[in-house]
Amino acid sequence: MKRVAVLTSGGDAPGMNAAIRAVVRTSIYRRLEAVGVMKGFEGLIDGEFVPLTRSSVGGIIHRGGTILKTARSERFKTEEGVNRAFFQLKNAGIDGLAIIGGDGSFRGAQKLYEKGFPVIGIPGTIDNDVAGTDETIGFDTAVNTALEAVKKLRDTASSHDRLFIVEVMGREAGFIALEVAVASGAEYLVVPELPFSLGKLCDKLHDTRERGKTHSLIIVAEGAMSASALRAQLQDTAGYDARVTVLGYIQRGGSPTSFDAVLASRMGAFAVESLIEGKHGVMVGTMAHQMALTPLAESWQTKKRLSPEKLELVEKLSI
Ligand code: F6P
Repeated sequence: MKRVAVLTSGGDAPGMNAAIRAVVRTSIYRRLEAVGVMKGFEGLIDGEFVPLTRSSVGGIIHRGGTILKTARSERFKTEEGVNRAFFQLKNAGIDGLAIIGGDGSFRGAQKLYEKGFPVIGIPGTIDNDVAGTDETIGFDTAVNTALEAVKKLRDTASSHDRLFIVEVMGREAGFIALEVAVASGAEYLVVPELPFSLGKLCDKLHDTRERGKTHSLIIVAEGAMSASALRAQLQDTAGYDARVTVLGYIQRGGSPTSFDAVLASRMGAFAVESLIEGKHGVMVGTMAHQMALTPLAESWQTKKRLSPEKLELVEKLSI
């Protein structure tokens, strides 16, 4: 193996740059050349390669976003797009490709692998909805960004004796919502993984008020429903007047936390070492703090579950 390429794909996540840096520096440490692919699979199809040196990844470990840019590629969903990408990789003399992204990106990675190209996945998404790793790169930072906002909202909710509904990202999963709910001491959590009961929520809000608590925070995952839809339901059926905050894309930006910078560094380095050892068609991850490899397909075929223990904590500690 002589030349390793790296790309970022799907939604950006804090720590992607730290992972790129780790892939590049480990490749050079192992006397391999490193190449960046711009704009994910889009750039791969168009052959947008850039040589990456030790210094081209200097000073990026703490930078949010991705220096390689990212995209969601429709063209790569076609047979023609995959064939073109395969040709570009061969033509550029690349022997292994590290793909940093979420499950959608790994479906693409799998197609290249099935054509016989050596690929390895590095899970990078704020959603944490990828099986085969305890955490994905960017999740911890997104949770901390959301938590900072929720703490500020708690101040004003408490001052005005108000009910607040905060909508967080996560696509079809409730990982960010659950983590933020536990860490902020939220009164109620709405996630797509659990059936929603307006009656149960109203009972909870009623009990909370009965006990003398004059403000409440509800964390809702975007995959369950929108904060404004929940607000309307509460208003129409029980007369609650809730304030709504949608945190949105702020959760995708910013400098990675130390956890994410370390996780990304470990995963990037391990990905290159694994490629060198001939391990392809797999995704790197951490399981109980140890580096692990999982077949790419498992990352989306296996449903990653919310921790029942944490779910119970929200209920138990919000009395
Ligand atoms: O997957 C990351 C994520 O930020 C999700 O949380 C969100 O649902 C989605 O991307 C938004 O996608 P887009 O960037 O295409 O608007």
